[in-house]
Amino acid sequence: MSASSQLKKTSIYKDFYPITDIKYLIEADKQLSNPRNYKFPHAKSVGALKLIPKVLIDWWFEHVVGSLKRADKSVKQEYKRMSYDFIRRKIFHTDYTVLAGHLLAEKIQPVTLKQSAILCLLHDIGRFEIITTGPLVINADHGYVSGEIIRRDMKRKEIVNVLEKIFNVDEMIEAVSVHSIATYEGKNVFARFLRDADKTSLIAEMRGLLKMLHYTIPPEIFWDVSKEVRRSYISEKKIYNESKKTGADMLIQYISFPFQFYFPETYNFAISHKLVHHLVGLYKKYVKNKDEELTREVLKSLTRGSEATNIDDPMEKE
Ligand SMILES: [Fe+2]
Repeated sequence: MSASSQLKKTSIYKDFYPITDIKYLIEADKQLSNPRNYKFPHAKSVGALKLIPKVLIDWWFEHVVGSLKRADKSVKQEYKRMSYDFIRRKIFHTDYTVLAGHLLAEKIQPVTLKQSAILCLLHDIGRFEIITTGPLVINADHGYVSGEIIRRDMKRKEIVNVLEKIFNVDEMIEAVSVHSIATYEGKNVFARFLRDADKTSLIAEMRGLLKMLHYTIPPEIFWDVSKEVRRSYISEKKIYNESKKTGADMLIQYISFPFQFYFPETYNFAISHKLVHHLVGLYKKYVKNKDEELTREVLKSLTRGSEATNIDDPMEKE
């Protein structure tokens, strides 16, 4: 069965599964050594997805399936060559983000569970079009593209009528548009929330994302932290995507995410669910050219929050 027909046949309106916690994400991620094994949606996110009006789910699918159909031969051959399916990886990421958002929205008051589910489902809608126009064009500003796709489709009455009952649509589009920019200082609460949910999900997906990078980075440098990334991290400066050159760089960038969360609830969540520990554990285990100073700074990611003083030593766990 082709990927697109398989996606078409998927219905989330089957059974309701209660949502428990995010630890399963790390487990699921480990099993996702080949994203082709992954079926949308993961059982745990169904409860959150069911809050979304069906017309919006169909709309999202329409873009995913449409992109798959439009992907030209060279793109498909490239996926085959790498035995890696970026599209499925991004569907998986969307699924993760919906769940992470749901768990955060239970704690973060201004955003409802329904608003969270919709924002997270739609946040990468432009990703699929970007990926299918070239296999490695993964650094384009997909947030902007996603926002423009949503704006364009607001001509469709069946979609805008539903969205308007749930959001101020302009605010929602802005949140999607800015979710991937390097820094956001604005006050849009949906933008702040979405950026936190996206990062929470990415942290949990770390192993899978590193695996994806293995296709493009030579193994002999994979676990070395580049000088520029090290310097930025130590001096608490933002690590930009452009300066990342290795898998270790990506790990260090993600270890800096907890310092960027907007809501203290997100940080506490990432600590209590051992997500930050997971990153630090990967650092301890794999990074080759670490030194005392870098390690000391990395460990700070575990104690930034005021409520995070009584946590166990993560090294014992990994
Ligand atoms: Fe994104």
